[in-house]
Amino acid sequence: MTEFLSLHDFEAAARKRLPRSIFAFVEAGSEDGEALKANRESWSRWAFKPRSLVDVSSRSQSVALFGRSYGSPFGIAPMGGAVVCGWRADLDLSTAAQEAGIPFVLSGAATTPLETVMEAAPGTWFQAYLSHDMARIDALLDRLKRAKVEVLVVTTDVAVMGNRENALRAGFSLPPRLTPRLAWDGVSHPRWLVNAMLRTLVRDGIPRQANFEAEPGASILARKASPGDRRSRLGWEHIRHIRRRWNGPLVLKGVLSVKDARLALSHRVDGLILSNHGGRQLSSAVSPLEVLPEIRETAPDIAIMIDGGLRRGGDVLKARALGADMAFLGRPFLYAVSVAGHAGVLKAAAILRQEIDRDLALLGECSVSGLNAESLQRWR
Ligand code: FNR
Repeated sequence: MTEFLSLHDFEAAARKRLPRSIFAFVEAGSEDGEALKANRESWSRWAFKPRSLVDVSSRSQSVALFGRSYGSPFGIAPMGGAVVCGWRADLDLSTAAQEAGIPFVLSGAATTPLETVMEAAPGTWFQAYLSHDMARIDALLDRLKRAKVEVLVVTTDVAVMGNRENALRAGFSLPPRLTPRLAWDGVSHPRWLVNAMLRTLVRDGIPRQANFEAEPGASILARKASPGDRRSRLGWEHIRHIRRRWNGPLVLKGVLSVKDARLALSHRVDGLILSNHGGRQLSSAVSPLEVLPEIRETAPDIAIMIDGGLRRGGDVLKARALGADMAFLGRPFLYAVSVAGHAGVLKAAAILRQEIDRDLALLGECSVSGLNAESLQRWR
């Protein structure tokens, strides 16, 4: 796979491979895309202050988190609906992440049952989209325990769905509305049509929502495949309840304010993923990197993780320098799995790992733990 030199190359290849509507589903931000743009720009606002004449001949980028050791300080963010990009994409993402020694978070909106993924790739984290109904939460927690899930991530920024008008405009909706334009979009991308769509339908049938609750959910063609209306009542009392019942690491994803970080501390959560959902929810939400330093200061003793717009190994190192334990990437890995399945995900992880390794040497650092706020300054 010599044609892939950076994560950007996977995006360019996926743009060609995927129907326009599906590429838009992955790529688009909500409304005018302010948060999407700001996420990318936030990383280039910081510059490194490298050290010289340091022996950097032996370098390590491994990190410890929640009792496990990972080969690199980045992981793959949860992405629902990955099946529309590739046949058994959830499995390719999870097994490749395991081989690369990085965390993968299976989405609550994924169509592969979490048990299947946990069996193929033990150690996978699980991200839940919870309803306010405590009995349903309890039943899901029991299911997670039975499947030996260790790390539970609760997404907090989807009280209602963001305004996905850009994906709609490109023809993407769930359930899909089969128009002549959408049909042409599919047949004019034959590799996707055969390798992703037809293969999925023939081998696995129509995908179903598999992980919203304890019981398997509806087909993705159903009018109401997601219990979204119950999410808008989720509150801190549910986190308190989960904390009483869940002994493993509990992580909240979507926190962006110091106030919420304080509340998270008082509810004894183990970690936060600072995130604006890749710019897919509140369209002018602040970029996670902008609030990382203040939230790290507020919560010095829990795991602080971040996602949104990282595309280079240097971005991961900037996240570490400003206080993150781990950074997650979403779209680049979905593009990689779209164009080259399991091998694509491995290649994307290898590229990022190499960039981190090279940048560490150029920074005069032997390990990612040597980085701190003094390693950086804002571009002026
Ligand atoms: C997502 N994201 C997401 N987050 C989540 O908690 N549960 C989910 O099911 C999904 N689904 C999803 C689908 C797709 C297609 C994308 C692109 C994103 C958000 C994701 O976890 C992450 O926060 C962002 O993708 C990070 O930004 P980048 O790396 O894509 O810029």
